[in-house]
Order: sequence, then structure tokens, then C-alpha cells
Amino acid sequence: MSNNDQDIQRYRLNLPRHVCIIMDGNGRWAEQRGKLRIAGHRAGVETVRTIVEASGEYGIEVLTLFAFSSENWRRPAQEVGMLMELFVTALTREVRKLHRNNVRLRVIGDIGAFDTKLQQSIHEAEALTRDNTGLTLVIAANYGGRWDVTQAVRALAQEVAAGTLNPADITEERIQARLCVRELPEPDLFIRTGGEQRISNFLLWQLSYTELYFTDVLWPDFDKQAFDVALQSFAQRQRRFGRTGNQVEQLTRA
Ligand code: IPE
Ligand code: IPE
Ligand code: MG
Repeated sequence: MSNNDQDIQRYRLNLPRHVCIIMDGNGRWAEQRGKLRIAGHRAGVETVRTIVEASGEYGIEVLTLFAFSSENWRRPAQEVGMLMELFVTALTREVRKLHRNNVRLRVIGDIGAFDTKLQQSIHEAEALTRDNTGLTLVIAANYGGRWDVTQAVRALAQEVAAGTLNPADITEERIQARLCVRELPEPDLFIRTGGEQRISNFLLWQLSYTELYFTDVLWPDFDKQAFDVALQSFAQRQRRFGRTGNQVEQLTRA
């Protein structure tokens, strides 16, 4: 499909430019089947593949996936270890295919906490795919919304301390410009699978006007059809950004 065709399709279907997902429910999916939790995480990787492919086909620009939160270190050491291993294997196994499919990979979060092998795989994958022009796939790993805002504010405080920034000049734009996904469009649609209706410290700043969608479907069961239902829900919503419904209707007619 050409870029132009994709633009037309997005317009027709009212597709989001940026979708972010809390991939939740892997553990329960496994437990329901009498399996170990890690089996659920493995099955979850298959879902990632499906949703990445579908996003590429639809011409969605950015897909951000929450893979590991800054709070997930609180899990049993064995599960954390297995998750890290799975992350390395998935990354090394999938990166060539992502590259072939013109996907640009970005990892956001405090990755300095990961072991050096994993950090290296991340840097290599990002470097290999940096110039790709298709879907931007953002993986949030050891990410927390509060961490993101904190590191942005710390960077600004350093400029103030160095005398290059006046506190009065700290604006929303300047904070935004220091956040992890600063150069990407803000998320239009947030999806959380697994039935919980909470943000769990995901993209706090960036979600201020994002449409929220929650589903009971567990992440390993979330397929293309379930994704379509979420996209259809988004397409039916009127985003007002503080305006009245009438104002928005006039703007869209103009
Ligand atoms: C989400 O699934 C994956 C990660 C947090 C890494 P969970 O592991 O949280 O699954 P549930 O919520 O226990 O079912
Ligand atoms: C959120 O899921 C983090 C990821 C999916 C990576 P959790 O399962 O950790 O969230 P809580 O603890 O139920 O809020
Ligand atoms: Mg969970």
C-alpha cells in the first residue's frame, strides 16, 4: 500500500496515529491453563507479533507497548529473571524481521538497570532500525511515567543550576521536550487488556487527552479482531480537547 493510500485509509477509518498498550493478563492466562506464568509471557510475545503486523498494515505511525514497569522489579526474582531472558531472546530473534518490515524500534525507560548484554542488544536493535520509515515501535522497559517526568525535570534543573535557564521559562513545552517520546505524536488511543482499569504508571504526562479503552481480554488472547474492536471504538469518539461538541462539529465541517 502506498503512503497516499494509507493516508486515505486512515482518514476514512479515523485511525489513531499513535496507539499505546498495557499488555496485561499474561500471568492469569497461564494460571487458567495450569501453566507457569512464564508460559503466559511467552504466549504474549506471539500477540506482540500479531499487533505489530496489524499496526503496520493499517498505517498506524507509532505503537508503544508497556513491557516492564519500574514497579515490576517487585515480582519474584525468578519471574523477573525469566522476563529479562525472554526480552533478550525476543529482541535478537525478531529484530531482523522488524528491520525487513521497515519498522523503527525505540526502547524507552531506565535501561541502565538492565544487564549489559540486554543493554547492548537494545542499542544494536535501535541502531540497525534507526532510519526505517514504517511503523515506529516503542517498547517501554523499566519505564514509569513518574520516572519520565522526574528525569525531564532533573535535566531542566541542571540547566537552571548552570545559569542557562530561568525558572520563569520552564513551560509545558520545555518539560515535554525532555520526555522520552518527545518527537513522536502523543498517544491517541490507550488500550489496556486484562480487565484492570488503571494506568499503572504508564505514560502519565502524554495520556492527558488520550482516549482510554479497557478490555477484559487477556493479552495472549488479544488478536487482530480484538484490536479492530478497539480501533472501532476509537473511531466513534468525538475528541473535544476542552471545546464543546458543537465547536468540534463546526471545525470538522470546515
Ligand atoms: C503483563 O502480564 C506482563 C508484565 C507485567 C510483564 P502480567 O504478568 O501482569 O499478568 P497478570 O496481570 O498477572 O495476569
Ligand atoms: C502493568 O501491568 C505493567 C505492564 C504491563 C508491563 P501490571 O500487571 O504490572 O500492573 P498492576 O500491578 O496490576 O497495576
Ligand atoms: Mg498484571
